[in-house]
Amino acid sequence: MEFLGSHLLSVDQLSREDVELVITVAQRLEPVARRRKITRALEGAVLASLFLEASTRTRLSFGSAFSRLGGAVRETVGLTFSSMAKGESIADTARVISGYADIMTIRHPEAGSVAQFAHASLVPVINAGDGAAEHPTQALLDIYTIEEEFAARNKRLDGSHILFVGDLKYGRTVHSLIKLLSLYDKMTFTLLAPELLSMPDPIVELVQARGHHVIQRNALPVTPEQVDVVYTTRIQRERLQGEQIEGYSRDFHVNTAFVNEVGDASTIIMHPLPRDSTPASNDLSTDLDADPRLAIFRQTDRGIPIRMALFALILGVSDNIEATYRDPSWRVSP
Ligand code: NCD
Repeated sequence: MEFLGSHLLSVDQLSREDVELVITVAQRLEPVARRRKITRALEGAVLASLFLEASTRTRLSFGSAFSRLGGAVRETVGLTFSSMAKGESIADTARVISGYADIMTIRHPEAGSVAQFAHASLVPVINAGDGAAEHPTQALLDIYTIEEEFAARNKRLDGSHILFVGDLKYGRTVHSLIKLLSLYDKMTFTLLAPELLSMPDPIVELVQARGHHVIQRNALPVTPEQVDVVYTTRIQRERLQGEQIEGYSRDFHVNTAFVNEVGDASTIIMHPLPRDSTPASNDLSTDLDADPRLAIFRQTDRGIPIRMALFALILGVSDNIEATYRDPSWRVSP
């Protein structure tokens, strides 16, 4: 895709070359993400951030990424505090906000809603999550994480085996990620989910049509092979439509014993977060917290360079950005 001036609404817009370009720019921006360098490349630019659903890391990392490029961030959070609570349409809201800003990031509870915002906006719109549909920037930071973690272990993404565990029906992060991973070669995907929360058929069919091997399971044991990535998810309670699911059964509880069963020392464990810490949830276990295979916080850190890369590409400052680097004047913590 042409990033300059474009909306980013779905991973369907991206080719493998596009993913590689975003990763290359993200790698170049790592010194800024790690506060070793500062840049004012987006000085004067304004990001309007509209989050109509709960968020911690996506909203703050988009805002931090834009600030670290030198731009300013203006936000409205929660449906009740925006004029949509007064009955304003998506089209009117989008047109109004696009008069105030150079780019928008939007999270909304309905699938397809962010595309409606984009349709009425005068400036580029980035989808920060639309219902159960898509979360393209999370998928990009997930692929960046897999690439970096694999490089450190002398592994390649092509031909690897990814195990997705949990709410594969309503988890938008896994929908975007499996589609993006299917741009790579000869992948194997094992999908472990309770029957009620299985991956939607159209996504499975798309991945199979691209020549990948898909194994679907509702219980352990999942596979005789060793998997390279365990990607686990939270039950998306807020999206359940009558499914009677209080928490996962122990089959879906990703803990040290689970990872040792399906993987080896080079397996990495990922989760888009938040993990559900309520007792019956059986979400990702804290018994893995000191395990070097657990990549979840390295994964969240990589949201900054990826989101900076997208802003830089869409707003046209990615070339030669290093020429603008200066040293920070404050004491930077490690
Ligand atoms: C996810 C989301 O909002 O889709 N979180 C995130 O953005 N990292 C996953 C979730 O809420 O479970």
